[in-house]
Amino acid sequence: MKNNTQVQERLRQLREEIERHNTNYYVRDTPTISDAAYDRMFGELLALEEKHPELITPDSPSLRVGAPPLHGFEEVRHRTPMLSLNNAFDTQEVSEFDRRMREGLGIENVIYAVEPKLDGVAVSLVYKNSILVEAATRGDGTRGENVTENIRTVRNIPLTLSGLKAPTFIEIRGEIHMRKSDFAGLNREQLQKEEKVYVNARNTAAGSLRQLDSRITATRPLRFFAYAVGRLEGIPSPHTHKGMIDLLEEMKVPVCPERAVVEGLEGLLEYYEGMNRLRPSLPYEIDGVVYKVNGLEQQRTLGFVSRAPRFALAHKFAAEEALTQVEDILVHVGRTGVLTPAARLKPVFVGGVTVTNATLHNEDEVHRKDVRIGDTVRVRRAGDVIPEVVSVVLEDRPTGTQAFIMPETCPVCGSRVVRVEGESAARCSNGLSCAAQLKGAVFHYASRRAMNIDGLGEKLIEQLIERKLLQNIADLYTLNRDTLAGLDRMAMKSAKNSVNAIEKSKKTTLAQFIYALGIRNIGEATAKDLARSFGGLDAIMNADESILEAVPEIGPIVAKSLIDFFSEAKNREVIRRLKDAGVSWEEFTPEPSAPQPLSGKTFVLTGTLASMTREEAKKKIEEAGGKVLSSVSKKTDYVIAGAEAGSKLSKAEALGLSILENEDFLAFLENAEVGKGSEDFNPPDS
Ligand code: IVH
Repeated sequence: MKNNTQVQERLRQLREEIERHNTNYYVRDTPTISDAAYDRMFGELLALEEKHPELITPDSPSLRVGAPPLHGFEEVRHRTPMLSLNNAFDTQEVSEFDRRMREGLGIENVIYAVEPKLDGVAVSLVYKNSILVEAATRGDGTRGENVTENIRTVRNIPLTLSGLKAPTFIEIRGEIHMRKSDFAGLNREQLQKEEKVYVNARNTAAGSLRQLDSRITATRPLRFFAYAVGRLEGIPSPHTHKGMIDLLEEMKVPVCPERAVVEGLEGLLEYYEGMNRLRPSLPYEIDGVVYKVNGLEQQRTLGFVSRAPRFALAHKFAAEEALTQVEDILVHVGRTGVLTPAARLKPVFVGGVTVTNATLHNEDEVHRKDVRIGDTVRVRRAGDVIPEVVSVVLEDRPTGTQAFIMPETCPVCGSRVVRVEGESAARCSNGLSCAAQLKGAVFHYASRRAMNIDGLGEKLIEQLIERKLLQNIADLYTLNRDTLAGLDRMAMKSAKNSVNAIEKSKKTTLAQFIYALGIRNIGEATAKDLARSFGGLDAIMNADESILEAVPEIGPIVAKSLIDFFSEAKNREVIRRLKDAGVSWEEFTPEPSAPQPLSGKTFVLTGTLASMTREEAKKKIEEAGGKVLSSVSKKTDYVIAGAEAGSKLSKAEALGLSILENEDFLAFLENAEVGKGSEDFNPPDS
């Protein structure tokens, strides 16, 4: 058995080596080991950390796989505001910018640092003593959202800065984005899974970054490029923007290889033309270039106008657009029943390809743009982005056109279409019986974590549906060896195996069964919560909103999904048939939950706790029945303040709330006997 020091040393080696390979792969684009060797190392790290959770450090690459979901993002105050840029769309505006710079600085010729303008999402990364400690979105420029867990999963962001020059504090600004090829790959996977394809790389990057569950973010191919430093302490500051970006590069922070330094207006325009030509072959999407006065002292002299620096300018590219006619508006039904309108277009060449279809996203979008059959529309396509209708040329609208109406019944199965208030999607309500959804539903029903039916592949399901042998999931249990053996590429032996696997699936658990039904918003965890709280299916099916929402993990959205699903007669019928076919599980009477010491109490955590992470503290509070919220209000019962607690602490003080310093309270909680009523709970004096 290794002692702790040895384990610690091995962990340190593994972390260092894994991060070195991450840098080689994601920052330098030159991997030096095989994927298998990398996976082995990663596996060893995970196993060791699982055995010694107390030795996990905030810079461990294991954090790159994500952490348990958050209930909401905390607010972060930027130490220096995150600004936006003034835009220019033509040469005239650029010329005026250059004139202002020359006049403002009182010089003849200005040196500019120039960079592509990446089309992604701005983030700010804070490193203290070289360790990534906080990451935030831009928000309103002053306050953003704390997305640290998510940012740690972005593989090309160093968890620790390298190099000899180690700042004690540095705030790095840059753009989270998705490469064109990664975006295309992600959409290929979506298509394979028959899930919705993403509209464009920018929105997908933004959506991925704002996932409350960082384990989801970890599965998305996000990347980062740094383009500025907000604050730097502990080492001398370079004198130029270029020097600053080079410094970041030395620290192994990814920066844009296409950056340059140019002189005067001529230099700016030359760079613009050059990047515009390169644009289609660049690995990432750009929507223009950015010009910045190179000297940092010069930048300070020029200063800011309202929310944008005077010393910088974004010179935008013209979007790739073309005009064409709408021949038809079709409505597709996806696996989850979402109806997506799309325009069939007269073929038009735009952005390097011939476009015949353009997404209209959803009903609201069609109405907002008022796209009609027969209209002349402006179509845009950039890079690998799905072509989109930008606007209608109203002057060219022929007479007698009609506004688009979303079908009230599903174009595939004819069932009622429902639209949830406050949601943009219209859906077929037929769930388990709609042909367009059936294939996906059967696939989900048979998946390992649901009913775990081995040997029911996609091809087989397709054939069964085509031959009308499967019209809903309950039909699975009517299949026999002979019907299956009669299908293409199906030998008697595999037919037998499939039938056995289907038979075996009949014995299941309530949680797996609920999950297998594929009800919207009901994932595996929610299915387990439901099973645990209700003990039986009838109790769940008959529960109304208030009963469902009384389960701590269930909110109004999930409750509504359940009620919608179970109020469809067809869904009830399918469930009855499944039960009749012999699908069964053990039911039980759930025990009324014992009163917990903190039930009904709300907490807000702020600052850094000395001996545990906030996640751990949160878990402890929740285990004792308390609720942890992200912002302080009058109703907050306790604020637990660690080191460097910020605005939340001041607010708590202003509101006169109970403030517990550091872990005093948690230590107390540890010793408290769980199971006592909340009236027995006496926190130490604050
Ligand atoms: S500099 C001090 N440089 O564009 C000025 N921004 O329209 C801070 N962006 O919010 C921005 N590429 O998210 C800068 N090379 C680049 C950029 C860039 C993309 C984004 C950034 C900013 C937005 C402003």
